[in-house]
Amino acid sequence: MRLHSLLGLLGLGYLATASNSHLRPRDYDAEDYYVLHLDSDTPPSQIAIKLGLTHEGPLGELADHHIFSSHKQQEDVVHTALKERKRRKRTIGGYDVLDGVKLAQKQQLKPRLEKRGIIPPPPAGYASPVARQVDSPAAAALAKQAAVAKKLGIKDPIFNEQWHLFNPVQVGHDVNVTDVWLQGITGHNATVAIVDDGLDMYSEDLKDNYFAEGSYDFNDHSVEPRPKLDDDKHGTRCAGEVSAVKNNVCGVGVAWDSKIAGIRILSKLISDADEAIAMNYAYQHNQIYSCSWGPPDDGVSMEAPGILIKRAMLNGVQNGRGKLGSIYVFASGNGAAYQDNCNFDGYTNSIYSVTVGAIDRKGLHPYYSEQCSAQLVVTYSSGSGDAIHTTDVGPNQCYSGHGGTSAAAPLAAGIFALVLQVRPDLSWRDMQYLVMETALPIDLDTGGWQTTTIGKKFSHTYGYGKIDTYATIEAAKTFKNVKPQAWYYSPWIHVNQAIPEGEEGLAVSFEVTPGMLKDANVARLEHVTITMNVEHTRRGDISVDLVSPDKVISHLSNSRNRDSTESGYENWTFMSVVHWGESGIGTWTIIVKDAIENEFNGTFIDWHLKLWGESIDASKATILPMPEENDDDDHNKTSTTTAVAIATTPVAVGPTSPPAANPTDHPDRPTRPKPSGAQEEVASPTGTSAAATSTSSSWLPSFFPTFGAGPKTQIWIYGAAGLILVFCCGLGVYFFLARRKRLRNNPRDEWEFDILEDEEAEGLNGGGARGKGKRRAGELYDAFAAGSDDESDEEFDEGGDEREKMLYDDEEDSSAREGSSEGGKHVIGDDEEDDDDESLVEAEHEKGAQGGPPSHK
Ligand SMILES: *[C@@H]1O[C@H](CO)[C@@H](O)[C@H](O)[C@H]1NC(C)=O
Ligand SMILES: *[C@@H]1O[C@H](CO)[C@@H](O)[C@H](O)[C@H]1NC(C)=O
Ligand SMILES: *[C@@H]1O[C@H](CO)[C@@H](O)[C@H](O)[C@H]1NC(C)=O
Ligand SMILES: *[C@@H]1O[C@H](CO)[C@@H](O)[C@H](O)[C@H]1NC(C)=O
Ligand SMILES: *[C@@H]1O[C@H](CO)[C@@H](O)[C@H](O)[C@H]1NC(C)=O
Repeated sequence: MRLHSLLGLLGLGYLATASNSHLRPRDYDAEDYYVLHLDSDTPPSQIAIKLGLTHEGPLGELADHHIFSSHKQQEDVVHTALKERKRRKRTIGGYDVLDGVKLAQKQQLKPRLEKRGIIPPPPAGYASPVARQVDSPAAAALAKQAAVAKKLGIKDPIFNEQWHLFNPVQVGHDVNVTDVWLQGITGHNATVAIVDDGLDMYSEDLKDNYFAEGSYDFNDHSVEPRPKLDDDKHGTRCAGEVSAVKNNVCGVGVAWDSKIAGIRILSKLISDADEAIAMNYAYQHNQIYSCSWGPPDDGVSMEAPGILIKRAMLNGVQNGRGKLGSIYVFASGNGAAYQDNCNFDGYTNSIYSVTVGAIDRKGLHPYYSEQCSAQLVVTYSSGSGDAIHTTDVGPNQCYSGHGGTSAAAPLAAGIFALVLQVRPDLSWRDMQYLVMETALPIDLDTGGWQTTTIGKKFSHTYGYGKIDTYATIEAAKTFKNVKPQAWYYSPWIHVNQAIPEGEEGLAVSFEVTPGMLKDANVARLEHVTITMNVEHTRRGDISVDLVSPDKVISHLSNSRNRDSTESGYENWTFMSVVHWGESGIGTWTIIVKDAIENEFNGTFIDWHLKLWGESIDASKATILPMPEENDDDDHNKTSTTTAVAIATTPVAVGPTSPPAANPTDHPDRPTRPKPSGAQEEVASPTGTSAAATSTSSSWLPSFFPTFGAGPKTQIWIYGAAGLILVFCCGLGVYFFLARRKRLRNNPRDEWEFDILEDEEAEGLNGGGARGKGKRRAGELYDAFAAGSDDESDEEFDEGGDEREKMLYDDEEDSSAREGSSEGGKHVIGDDEEDDDDESLVEAEHEKGAQGGPPSHK
């Protein structure tokens, strides 16, 4: 107590936190750990007594969340006790301290997150980069580089190799930072935490900027996140990009005066509880969390953080950095060669993270860098025969082969540190606006750009473009903070229609009226999220597009050759930043396709639209409640709608995708609706009555006028409306088809590539020295299939089923929980009163509906 108040007096509150018991080491071999979310009046000590558990302490910064332990046993003792209490409560009633438990989760160690520095081999037909850079530097650029170094006193021996900071060869292909440094903007007062496999705080190149109070080792439970395993080098390399000191060792970080913390989570298995603590660690002082990892980028995984980690990230943006919000930066992923997409990763597609992809030193898209509608921006990394030159583990070690999207994210994080020096008052959303507004579109001819409503260009491959540090800092200087966030949730829209096989799609629309957004206090859009259920016997066949009222298209997902998962999309949430700045008012259309013709088929079950944006009236803004496990449970709140099977133009996706341009400009593909059985007005079995009786009457009658026509005619009218939308999807089809053909012509068995040493693979994209072991890609494919990834998938699926079963055990309760939908705005909450079983997470594992392990990028 005395220590705490003393530290508090000294303004070192974070030390008090750091010394908290929540950082007690764990022993997963001997102990079971439970996380319980309690009512704020329920004392954890009483819960511990009641359940015979040891109270380990609070769960990081998550209010009213606590960790308890017991000796290891098979049973989930908390689950058993809570079930028993529930049963008794029904019959006997009365009070029990267990009634104060709002969520309970037994902790398990989950598969390791993968670093995104190790990138898969290039696909067949990919032009291998020609060894190392052979072009010679431009004399004028060299002179400028020398002048800058002289003026700033940069004597770091590899500064001249750090082309990402100043590129004298491909002039202009760098982060354009030197004139920012010359203004004295070098990261003073900004702190970046590298959440990774460690950070060598004894490196001569890092130690002066090392921020010990923001650092912790969650793998070995010690205060120093020192690298301990042979391959614990990734975090140190990332840290060097941000904050390598300007001295006589290696190079400089892009924000060389910033502070750098290390949070070590990737070197061993970790529980959701510890990962949640890590994501909020010292979050008043660590301003930016740089995360170069995630679920495996294998073209198969579709995984998202569990509920505790989701809560931690929401808590971070709500309460971190003096309530301005922690800045989470994520690497988009390295699985593009496997058609992986960052929308299949619940970290990169979180609205709370800035997703950063890669371009190489020639400004080209490297084959590994994933695309998605959630990607905000790109910056430099490996490719075209070179990589990022940075600090390495060791007192005076440099590394010239750092790469993958792993190397892009920290570079962005360092640039955001420069921004925070100039504008420490920017909120997490201000930062996203700034990044979006100042990104520079590149590769305009082949980047697949479309012009958005606000006149920005967006590409699924490059986001809004590459970061131009100078432009970002200039805009930051005068940036006007945006109003608080507001959101609109649509009802669940039930479809329950078979998805036509082939080059067709199933399009379903939902109309957002001005009244809905006014009631929801939404002035203009930022993020759009779509949660959906699709049943399919082969998940990789499915692709989904979203067309906004302004006819801007988000490719929410693409098909994936390797993904043979039999389960479709289950409550999966996709995210898009493509509609930034739109009003949101009008008809939103989702098009689900099964363009891969085979024996596998599926059904589009339902979907749910959420529009996130700036509020109209800041004084009416509210704080988003913490997510619940069963947020997606109110499938009752449905809308019947018209689903139309249409001969859609397959909208192009993929790194080689052609420009979608402004779709309205190219209504050049007349298509014809198929008057098949699919064209019926659908009412979900449960939806019909719910829709008719729902209190949120705003949506149903208003947006499907009947035109006084009979049902058949209406179908045609809406079919035609669908068609018009389809016209808008135009352009790019032929390229897409060509690409598909190419992929077909290059089946995996013909892929041949070199297995590179880790460093080569990481750094040189398969360029540079050739490794010895040649292997067929087919083997790699099979290895993946039999490997841990699939196992973990199974494990999760199993767990999911189990959880579902348990949820339905107490079926009567499941209807008790419902968000109230008022004026179109979905309000979550009131969970305390309901006391239903779903408020208890009954999972045996820590994966939520879209839970799962991340991997390094
Ligand atoms: C880079 O910064 C300079 C100022 O130093 C600015 O004039 C220029 O527009 C920026 N962008 C590029 C692509 O050079
Ligand atoms: C750093 O922050 C302190 C206190 O917030 C402020 O007084 C100081 O001017 C800042 N320094 C720089 C270089 O921005
Ligand atoms: C999928 O194909 C099978 C066999 O042709 C068929 O019985 C089933 O109804 C189809 N399911 C859907 C959703 O189209
Ligand atoms: C979606 O989530 C809800 C609970 O949140 C669950 O009841 C439902 O079964 C889930 N659907 C699928 C397909 O997993
Ligand atoms: C949801 O649907 C179930 C079953 O159809 C029903 O019992 C329950 O009352 C409904 N809940 C709401 C809020 O409409």
